[in-house]
Amino acid sequence: MEGFGATRRTDDWWKGPAVTLFVFLTFIVYTTWAALQGNHYFVDPYLSPFYSPVLFTTDPSLAIAGAAPVSHAWFGYFPSWWPGFVPLSPAILILVFPGSFRFTCYYYRKAYYRSFAGSPPGCAVGPAAKSKRYRGETALMLFQNLHRFAMYFALAFIVFLGIDAVKAFFWHGQFGIGVGSIIITINVILIAAYTFGCHSFRHLIGGRSDCMSDCGKPTLKQGAFKKASWFNSRHMQFAWASLIWVMVTDLYIRLVSMGVITDLHTWKGW
Ligand code: FES
Repeated sequence: MEGFGATRRTDDWWKGPAVTLFVFLTFIVYTTWAALQGNHYFVDPYLSPFYSPVLFTTDPSLAIAGAAPVSHAWFGYFPSWWPGFVPLSPAILILVFPGSFRFTCYYYRKAYYRSFAGSPPGCAVGPAAKSKRYRGETALMLFQNLHRFAMYFALAFIVFLGIDAVKAFFWHGQFGIGVGSIIITINVILIAAYTFGCHSFRHLIGGRSDCMSDCGKPTLKQGAFKKASWFNSRHMQFAWASLIWVMVTDLYIRLVSMGVITDLHTWKGW
């Protein structure tokens, strides 16, 4: 059978790509919007993962609501040379790293090649580009090979987000717990679970070796590889769970910062 979407399959093969299209589009639109706001990304002690780490923050004289204080910014205030046409948003400097990691992820490639490019939309289903020669990931698509490098940055982001999660339990030096603390902690756990299941990470920690045991005895490398394999076999699930949760985390902090909702917590005096 020929033509886009032509198939002999009788199951609902289109549901998967349709849901992928919807969730991915929602994520892209929301993330872009949130990253351009430059406000309501911080409410002590919570920091939105879209803005972490904060490299520069805005000068208090600009009175940006929900901006991080300078003590949270690695390099202080935005420099005077910051181009006027670029929004004063710390997220603009950050999102390229997690964004490129997800965009070049082996699982997401399959998902968006199907749902966005229809190439093909499903197994045994006619592709959109029916007459074009299949070239795989060559030519322009070679940039997908950058995934292994994006993975190194992703590992660093687990540390940054982990530090944010610890800080989310301390308000003015006082230990406590709030709904935001839990949401931020779940966020870093899901992102770590997604990252540890990365195919490049699995290759890095042992997959490139022919033998990982020591004369039949298990080694540290073998143990790490097995754990990464556990995450790897659930990579799709963690990919979606972490994608949705990172949006939820930003939205929660944004709404608390705006005063739309109130964070339930144990701190007295907040
Ligand atoms: Fe999905 Fe590396 S393969 S994050």
